Amino acid sequence: MTHLPHVTLNLKRVCADTRPMYGLVNQAVADLVATEWDDATWNAIRTRAGIDEDRFIATHRYDDQVTYRLVEAASEVLGVDTEKILEAFGRHWILFTGAKGWGPTLDAAGDNLLEVLQNLDALHSRVSITMPGAQMPSFDVEQRDDNTLLVQYLSRRPGLAPMAVGLLQGLGERLGDPHEVAEVSASVSEGLHVHQFLASPSPA
Ligand code: HEM
Repeated sequence: MTHLPHVTLNLKRVCADTRPMYGLVNQAVADLVATEWDDATWNAIRTRAGIDEDRFIATHRYDDQVTYRLVEAASEVLGVDTEKILEAFGRHWILFTGAKGWGPTLDAAGDNLLEVLQNLDALHSRVSITMPGAQMPSFDVEQRDDNTLLVQYLSRRPGLAPMAVGLLQGLGERLGDPHEVAEVSASVSEGLHVHQFLASPSPA
């Protein structure tokens, strides 16, 4: 692997403890399955995951285990590996679930992938005002000479990097600035999960 410059970490932006997550992600799971498959498949997944709720509420908080159990169950029922499921959820959130209520917020964050990523921590901070106790991830971005973007994602939650890949891909598509996204490094230190992605403009 080529050596990649390290984007400066700002650990203070990521909280030091883990808390339940707002229902946005779980909602995307339910939404995607009901749209791309059907209600029967959604019911099979939530039953397998041992979840009573038929639908999730974006502004309620759910234990992270609910999300992980949903992803596992979806993987088993659909026969698709968990990474691909998480990636699809991320993309679906940006293009459909989140776009419904949060479209204007996303539009105001910038006109291209670089700009939105530069503004993403500020966007998450503003969202935290209406969602107290949210434990937002942190993103850093650096444009390289060859026009690729080196993106760093920091989270207290393990295992969500494929979802971040899907979110980045969906964001590029939404902006008409599509990128191919690949993870280039991953590490964990004192419970902080650090992933670097390389986003390359998709060939026209
Ligand atoms: C208007 C747009 C957005 C809103 C309202 C929003 C809001 C949120 C909320 C409420 C959470 C859950 C945090 C918690 O409950 O602890 C979250 C998590 C997350 N968001 Fe956003 N977000 C937005 C855009 C984005 C974008 C564009 C990306 C990436 C390209 C992104 C990446 C993530 C990731 C990866 C998580 C998972 C949590 C973690 O890693 O710990 N978000 N976001």
